[in-house]
Amino acid sequence: MGFILAATGSAIGLGNLWKFPFITWENGGGAFVLIYLMCIVGVGLPIMMAELLIGRKTQKSPVGALKEAMGPWWGWVGAWGVMAGFIILSYYSVVAGWSLFYFVKTVGWSLGGFPADLQTGELFTDVIGNGGLQFLLSGLFMAATVGIVYFGVHGGIERVARIFLPILFVILLLLLASALTMEGAGEALAFIFRPNFSELEPRSVLEALGHSFFTLSLGMGAMITYGSYVARNRSIVSAAGTIVLLDTVIALFATIIMFSVIFTVPGMSEQVGRSAAGMLFISLPELFYNVVPFGAVLGPLFYVLVALAALTSTISLLEVVVSYFIDERNMPRPKATLLSGAAIFVFTVLSALSFGALPALSNFEIFEGKAGVFSTLDHFASNWALPLGGLLITLGAGWFMTREATEGELVDETTPRWFRYGAWRFFMRYVAPVAVAAILIAVIFFGMDFS
Ligand code: PFF
Repeated sequence: MGFILAATGSAIGLGNLWKFPFITWENGGGAFVLIYLMCIVGVGLPIMMAELLIGRKTQKSPVGALKEAMGPWWGWVGAWGVMAGFIILSYYSVVAGWSLFYFVKTVGWSLGGFPADLQTGELFTDVIGNGGLQFLLSGLFMAATVGIVYFGVHGGIERVARIFLPILFVILLLLLASALTMEGAGEALAFIFRPNFSELEPRSVLEALGHSFFTLSLGMGAMITYGSYVARNRSIVSAAGTIVLLDTVIALFATIIMFSVIFTVPGMSEQVGRSAAGMLFISLPELFYNVVPFGAVLGPLFYVLVALAALTSTISLLEVVVSYFIDERNMPRPKATLLSGAAIFVFTVLSALSFGALPALSNFEIFEGKAGVFSTLDHFASNWALPLGGLLITLGAGWFMTREATEGELVDETTPRWFRYGAWRFFMRYVAPVAVAAILIAVIFFGMDFS
């Protein structure tokens, strides 16, 4: 149970609460959601099973696990994943830090009243442009992450997941119940669940696919690491099914909540939609105090939810890096955790200061355009690190592991009846690699950007 909660905690994060609602918005709703669900079932779920089975079979973290399962060269794929974890963590903790700020701020507003003349857009720009504050927020978040990983998987990660995930579900259900009573709920549900394929572009399909990697923490070995903790008497298939289902449900709930609020305010739907950050940190704070029933209670709860969800993801990102140093470099856990945390924090600070606090970090020429450190790291992770890692892990599990090796882990007396090994193998060998390769082709040859 601890493992399922930890892995679900890794999957549920800013991807669900911050990115998914926004890309659903940008891509016109229903049809995109349907495509996303297909990507989750047809690509995400089989790869989730593959990563978990590699972890459990080898009982190792990604570098050692891939070497043992597929051959010596595959260690590089694991190393690529360790690097991806390093990079994602260094910008992810910046946004996580913002949620801490908004938690404290909303508590203040709930107690002292929401200032009537507050411009939430200006507030956000001030916050992200304030170097000292950015340093403090992302530093606090990294310190919490390091503090948990320091105590190991059972003592730190699983314990935190056991406590936080149930809290997270309760908060989300409260928010959902409140959202469904709002006037905009009907329109929100129609937008999310009524497909209109005329709005859908080929790009949207690839964006849905790319996001399914990010949201399920696939393509970099996080699930290989966690897979090594799955007990022998548990089914990998059911575990993967549970994690994927919970992650998807939470993403949909978050989207229903946000859109119900947005559609309730006339004219609001024209204003949001410029950025994911804008939706979460500019539009929503104001709406909590003006339209959401019980918003003064639910507002702070919402931001604490975002922070907790982010934390259970950042610990899994750090664990990938730390377990590499423990397993491959024989470092004791405390040293590995502190060193990796410190090294990642250097990049976190650079990302945190790239929203105007230090102009040199905010705007330099890269990838055919101007970008800051934060968006460059996001760009690299979403367009290169996860798709390439995912493609190689998929090819490895489908083509370089024997049938006996994978079947032995997936099929036993604990396997649920709906599972068909032959279908899994077919998806791993043909469907998933072609789909993931399409992302890389779009990035390389058509200059698409999925960050
Ligand atoms: N799945 C996380 C989210 O949706 O926010 C992000 C993430 C966490 C990606 C851990 C990769 C990872 F290893």
